[in-house]
Amino acid sequence: MSNYRPNVARHLKHLITDLGPIDSLLDFGAGNGWMLSQLLTTDVRVNRAPAVDVQKRPQCHVPVRIYDGKRLPFDDRSFDATMAVDVLHHCPDPAAALRDAARVTRRFIVIKDHTYRSVAGFATLSLLDEIGNRKFGIPSRYQYQRDFSWDAVLAEEGFHVRHRVNPLPCHEGVLSVTDRLQYGAVYERSND
Ligand SMILES: C[S@@+](CC[C@H](N)C(=O)[O-])C[C@H]1O[C@@H](n2cnc3c(N)ncnc32)[C@H](O)[C@@H]1O
Repeated sequence: MSNYRPNVARHLKHLITDLGPIDSLLDFGAGNGWMLSQLLTTDVRVNRAPAVDVQKRPQCHVPVRIYDGKRLPFDDRSFDATMAVDVLHHCPDPAAALRDAARVTRRFIVIKDHTYRSVAGFATLSLLDEIGNRKFGIPSRYQYQRDFSWDAVLAEEGFHVRHRVNPLPCHEGVLSVTDRLQYGAVYERSND
């Protein structure tokens, strides 16, 4: 599992460079900001890239603003793009979190998260999640998406799927069999 985060960062870079020039990017649920810092050292060039989370980490790679997790502290359509990397399944109410992310986003929502289609898939995700997050004190809430049920939530907010990758090759070695539980997607606002 050791290359998981660098692999995710690489996929994310492809998804975001594919959007073309964007001026502002919100990192929703940035953690310690490592993922955003990796993006900003590549050809991803943005003028404004704030990061928010609900939990303060001891050391951060970028400034991370802490908020209450209920309503993002930004006006409607403040950002060209919002990214949420392995965040939504940690939210108590992923649909509500998605709606609020959509509210502050003008054009694109970029998601890296999980999807499952069977009891075995759900159990595997629960185990990987515990192993990956407990050491950082991040609660696992097991709010994984069955199939692509979050598409419907974003459709109600006026976004459609522009691009999706599933399975997403995040793991190496034996764990790569679980990559079907990983996906990356770009959603684009269609009602403007
Ligand atoms: C697995 S970490 C991912 C961090 C980062 N995106 C990355 O890829 O390194 C999940 C993060 O989601 C944050 N989180 C949980 N609920 C949230 C909410 N309602 N709003 C924003 N962040 C939240 C957690 O505090 C945690 O930092």
